[in-house]
Amino acid sequence: MPTKLDMAKFAKFCKDMGFIYQSSEIYGGINGFWDYGPLGVELKRNIKEAWWQDMVRNPPPGPDGQEIRMVGLDCSIIMNPQVWRASGHAAGFSDPMVDCTKCKKRYRADKLVQLIFYDRDESQAREEEFEKVRGKLTNFTQDELVWLLAPVLNITVESDSRSEAYLNRESFLTKSDKKLFKKTLWALDYGMNDHPAINLPKYCPDRTCGGTLTEPRAFNLMFQTYVGAVQSEENVAYLRPETAQGIFVNYKNVLDSSRLKLPFGIAQVGKAFRNEINPRNFTFRSREFEQMEIEFFCHPNESRKWYEYWRELRKKWYSTLGIKSDNLRPREQGKEELAHYSVGTTDIEYLFPFSDEPQELEGVAHRGDFDLSAHAKHSGKDLSYFDEEGWNALLQEKLAPFASDKAKREEEKKKLEQTEKARFQFVPHVIEPSAGADRFTLAVLCEAYSEDKQPDAKGNMEERIVMRFHPRLAPIKAAIFPLVNKDGMDEKAKELYRALKPHFNVVYDQSGAIGRRYRRQDEAGTPFCITVDGDTMKDGTVTIRDRDTLKQERIPMSEVRARIEAALQPGA
Ligand code: GAP
Repeated sequence: MPTKLDMAKFAKFCKDMGFIYQSSEIYGGINGFWDYGPLGVELKRNIKEAWWQDMVRNPPPGPDGQEIRMVGLDCSIIMNPQVWRASGHAAGFSDPMVDCTKCKKRYRADKLVQLIFYDRDESQAREEEFEKVRGKLTNFTQDELVWLLAPVLNITVESDSRSEAYLNRESFLTKSDKKLFKKTLWALDYGMNDHPAINLPKYCPDRTCGGTLTEPRAFNLMFQTYVGAVQSEENVAYLRPETAQGIFVNYKNVLDSSRLKLPFGIAQVGKAFRNEINPRNFTFRSREFEQMEIEFFCHPNESRKWYEYWRELRKKWYSTLGIKSDNLRPREQGKEELAHYSVGTTDIEYLFPFSDEPQELEGVAHRGDFDLSAHAKHSGKDLSYFDEEGWNALLQEKLAPFASDKAKREEEKKKLEQTEKARFQFVPHVIEPSAGADRFTLAVLCEAYSEDKQPDAKGNMEERIVMRFHPRLAPIKAAIFPLVNKDGMDEKAKELYRALKPHFNVVYDQSGAIGRRYRRQDEAGTPFCITVDGDTMKDGTVTIRDRDTLKQERIPMSEVRARIEAALQPGA
């Protein structure tokens, strides 16, 4: 598992290495926006390309062994604002927020936890009383509860989960809290939305502010802009908060232009924007991010089968790219969490090192016919599907007995058109695997990060950071070194570099001791280092060093390309 990682130290490492920088850092940055450096951009591209290759160009066979039909799409970020009215984003794309009445800062209600501390030793009798009623708090009056609890400290803290806040409760105490309460303090935790019995005021999480919080209320997360020169109400448009709607509104175009038959999927990779109230945990929750989304359209009767298929496939995909299955958790959402239209949703979660609980990497949602029906209703366009093959098969079967009687056949056909044809016209159901490219990039970085000790050239143990990326995702596939810059080795090494460059992202490095060059590549996560030495000049062989095993093997220079290629195969 990615053991608990100091995220500040990790972010610094990512910056120093050129994976991720804070956006516009020289001006103090801007919260919730990030830039990818030379190594980061390669890593993220490899992730998006692996997804496109494995999901769009070469998806594995479907549940019955059939070929899967998948096509891609790249649509505009700004769309007709009606799209967001139909999808429900304009009205309902909101998180419950609370505002501090004093400092005016806004917080996501579901990310706040109220911790009420009480002094356990203050009264043993009271404590026993309290233990008896724990879990039945709603039966008590305010006065009784306050007496039972005798709260001595009431604070609101920011946390991704209640259990995490509760477990780390001591860490939220200031020095003076600790001085004040010499004895052990015990805490109760309440989310802001389900604070049932104890109506104590909720304070701003910034304790230096001391203001109280409002009740939760909805806040729209879409970024707004204006199309055209005039900043008027009718010119308002939005930056898309998800790529999915572009797929739904193009569904008919794709169907008509590519003459696809159900079931089929449309995939899109692209930027999405959400004015997140509380961007946090490095790039985990950003305001500008990229999604990799599929809308898979199928017959309603087959939707459960496809839901299960995508759920399994998507979880497996992360494992094939080096995410240990112990760190992955598919979590079926409870009924209360489901969007009103959703028949089922599974979150594929990853145990990020900044949290004790796994966090969402991707959602695989069964969306029923909600989206297509909503767009059909708002646009007035028919977005239903006619199953021509099914209808023709039925006609063939039912009309076969009247093959020689044309009049009877026509009569029978008319009858079937009235009684049976309608059931071949339906609005497809949709399964939506929706993944975050940046979130997965962060997971890959966390998963790859490892520290160990290795002997240096003199045999002394030295600390090493190594990024154990799956070779397919590694930003640099191989580094080519001349052992020394003389006797033709540098020329030979450059020759190899030039031969590999058209096929992979490779680097040539001739500066510094060979051990230092290896360390640099370990930190970049380069799976292979290839050294041209004296023997190369004699027999045309090179050494190839494996980043993870540190084994060095001597192979003919002519085999290097095939060796790298083999490691890059999906599933290698
Ligand atoms: N069309 C469905 C949809 O957008 P979502 O769960 O809101 O569903 C899908 O988003 C994925 O997009 C998430 O699982 C996550 O990987 C990524 N994502 C969502 N909000 C994000 C944010 N603020 N920062 C980074 N990634 C985000």
